[in-house]
Amino acid sequence: MADTSRRPIGMFDSGFGGLTVARAVIDVLPSEDLVYIGDTGRYPYGPRQADEVREFAREIAWSLVNDHNAKAIVVACNTASAAAFDDLARELPVPVVSVVEPGARALALATQVRRVGVIGTVGTISSGAYQRALADVDASLEFVATACPGFVEFVERGQTTGDEVMLLAERLLAPIVAADIDALLLGCTHYPYLSRVISEVMGPKVVLVSSADETAFALADMLRAQDLLAPSGDTGTRTFLSSGDVEWFADFGRRLLGPELSSASRWERSSND
Ligand code: DGL
Repeated sequence: MADTSRRPIGMFDSGFGGLTVARAVIDVLPSEDLVYIGDTGRYPYGPRQADEVREFAREIAWSLVNDHNAKAIVVACNTASAAAFDDLARELPVPVVSVVEPGARALALATQVRRVGVIGTVGTISSGAYQRALADVDASLEFVATACPGFVEFVERGQTTGDEVMLLAERLLAPIVAADIDALLLGCTHYPYLSRVISEVMGPKVVLVSSADETAFALADMLRAQDLLAPSGDTGTRTFLSSGDVEWFADFGRRLLGPELSSASRWERSSND
């Protein structure tokens, strides 16, 4: 078991978004080794068909298991969680954690007026994954959901403030503002990087909820329950891989995540899934 516990946690996203979850995992589980794959060469996932996203997710998750010996997988992407979580949980030989259920739990805890909102990619919102997850957590909540196409592209370009993204946010979030909610789940791991803009549009009475912390806590609980926690004391190693522009991933990723992202390497796609 000692050997297994020293293996890394594998995480992935279409690009930079999962770094919000990686940040929380590093803070909650500092002794764990981490391998993160950002599929920036094929982002965005949000507008793609679910079948295609599922194949990308399977390819990356198997690469984390086969090539990096991951002891657990965190699907740090709502779109991939919505499209592929059930398949991954069934076929992978290691435990899999999604961002969807932890996000739904955090949202249910954040509301006072019992009216909540979820925003995400077209793929996530149209999959109904959050509608199902929230109904499981608390079927009495009133719920409004809207897709925000374009948000992810702004984040990937490093454009997280300014008039253009503000205008888009005002237009996309109008139905959510009109629904008079008091808690909004950022159901895409890229969206916390747009918190300032989203918060300005939603106003001070709406709490923004990110699934990052809750997912890190769920991961810690699962590792503890399965006796997979790395021995505490040492600081874990962190490896960042990208299928796109590696220099940009390292430079912009470091600004988003912090100094733990000291370098990035190219993710070599494996052929053995
Ligand atoms: N960060 C991914 C998510 O949580 C999204 C993005 C994409 O469209 O590539 O859904």
